[in-house]
Amino acid sequence: MGHKTLCFGFSCILFAYFIYSPVPENVEEPWKIIFLNAGIKMTSLLATLFENIGLMRYEEVFLTLESLEFTKPVSDENITVIDTNFSDIPVRLYLPKKKSEIQRPAIIFIHGGAFALGSCKKGAYDDLNRQTANKLNAVVVGIDYRLAPQHPFPAALEDCTFVVKYFLQDKVLAKYRVDAARICIAGDSSGGALATTVTQQLQNDPKLKDRIKAQALIYPGLQSVDSSLPSHREYKHGPILFREMTVKLASLYLTEDNVLPQAALRNEHMPTESRHLFKFVNWSYFLPEKYKNNHVYTEPILGKLNASYPALMDSRLSPLLASDSQLQSLPLTYILTCEHDPLRDDGLIYISRLRNVGVQVSHDHIEEGVHGAMSFTRAPMFLHLGFKIRNKYIAWLEENL
Ligand SMILES: *[C@@H]1O[C@H](CO)[C@@H](O)[C@H](O)[C@H]1NC(C)=O
Ligand SMILES: *[C@@H]1O[C@H](CO)[C@@H](O)[C@H](O)[C@H]1NC(C)=O
Ligand SMILES: *[C@@H]1O[C@H](CO)[C@@H](O)[C@H](O)[C@H]1NC(C)=O
Ligand SMILES: *[C@@H]1O[C@H](CO)[C@@H](O)[C@H](O)[C@H]1NC(C)=O
Repeated sequence: MGHKTLCFGFSCILFAYFIYSPVPENVEEPWKIIFLNAGIKMTSLLATLFENIGLMRYEEVFLTLESLEFTKPVSDENITVIDTNFSDIPVRLYLPKKKSEIQRPAIIFIHGGAFALGSCKKGAYDDLNRQTANKLNAVVVGIDYRLAPQHPFPAALEDCTFVVKYFLQDKVLAKYRVDAARICIAGDSSGGALATTVTQQLQNDPKLKDRIKAQALIYPGLQSVDSSLPSHREYKHGPILFREMTVKLASLYLTEDNVLPQAALRNEHMPTESRHLFKFVNWSYFLPEKYKNNHVYTEPILGKLNASYPALMDSRLSPLLASDSQLQSLPLTYILTCEHDPLRDDGLIYISRLRNVGVQVSHDHIEEGVHGAMSFTRAPMFLHLGFKIRNKYIAWLEENL
C-alpha cells in the first residue's frame, strides 16, 4: 500500500473520529458545522504531527491550506480592484467605478487569523470587501499586514496603524475621492483587536483625534489577560475555534516558545506585577448576568512563568486594558458577537466598558452564531450564517457611515 493511500486512510479515520464532536443545538446547518469542525480539528492534529517530525511548522500547515483560497485582484462591472502598496505595506483596494458627485465613504478592513494566519486576498474577505464597496459606493482598503511568528508583536499593529495614517493624508483621500468625515475602521476576530487598538491610538493622538467616524468589530478577540472567561470555558472544544489551537496560534505573536501557550491554557501566564490590570477585564463585574451563568470567578494565577513577556500587560495587545479615560472619546462603535464563540465575552465586556463611559455602541448578538462564520461564504463550504453576519455588518455601515 502506497504512502498516499495510507495517509488518506488515516485522515478518514481521524475525520470520522472528530465528526463525533457535539455542536450546540440551535446552530443552523448543523451538519456543515460538524464537517467544518472535524476538518479544522483534523488539520490541527496533522499540523502538530508535521511539526513534531520537523516537516512543517504548525501554522504553515494552515497557511498552505489557506493559500488555496487566495484570489487575484479581479475587477468587475462596478468595482476596480487593485493590489498595491502603501509605502511598502501591501493593500488591496476596491474602488467603485460609478461616477458620483459627492465624495465616497471609506472602510479600512483588517482581517482575522490569530495574528499568524489570513490575508485580505482570501476569497471570503475579497467577497466581503467587494460587496461593502458595491453596496455603499465606498472605497475599501484591505491590509496585508505582516504575520507572526516571523514578525512578532507589534509588527501587525504597526502595519495597520501605518496604513490608516497613510490613507488619512489629505492628498491620498483626495486621490480616491474619499469624504474625510466618513471613514470607518473594521476587522474580524484578531483583526477586530487590531482595529480596536488602531482606533484607540488614533483617538488618543491629538494630531489625529476625531478623524475616524466609526469602528466596526466582528466577533473580536480583545484581550490575552484572562484565558478563563465563561465563554472560554463553555466553548473550549469549539465549534470552529477550539482552545488548544487558538492559544497556540495567538501565542506565536509573542514567542515561539511553547511554554507560553502551555501556561496560558492553565491561565497562569500573567506576570506578578499585573494584578492591577484585572479590573479592566473582570467578567464577574462587566458581563451581563445572563452570561455569568453560574460560573465562579477566579483570578488568573500570577508569576508562574519565568520568561517575561511585557506585551501581556500592554493595551496594544489587549485593547481591553485601556483605561476609562482612553475609552471615553472613542467614535461610534458597532460590535457583533456570536453566542457559541469562545471570544464572545471579550466583545460583551468591551460593550459594557464603552457604554459605561458614554460611547455610543450598536450591538448585534447572533444567538445561533459561531466564531469565524463570515470566513465561510464560498463553495464548497458556505454557511448561511456567514452571509447573515456579512449582511448585518454591511447594513449597519449603510445606515451609519
Ligand atoms: C453591480 O451593481 C448592480 C447595481 O447595484 C448590481 O445589480 C450588480 O449585481 C453588480 N455587479 C456585481 C458583479 O456585483
Ligand atoms: C510591496 O511591498 C512588498 C514588501 O513589503 C514587496 O515584496 C512587493 O514587491 C511590493 N509590491 C509593489 C507592487 O511594490
Ligand atoms: C471582580 O469583580 C468582583 C465583583 O463582581 C469583585 O468581587 C472582585 O474583587 C473583582 N476582582 C478583581 C481582580 O477586580
Ligand atoms: C523557574 O525558575 C526557577 C528558578 O530559576 C526554577 O526552579 C523553576 O523550575 C522554573 N520554572 C519553570 C516553569 O521553568
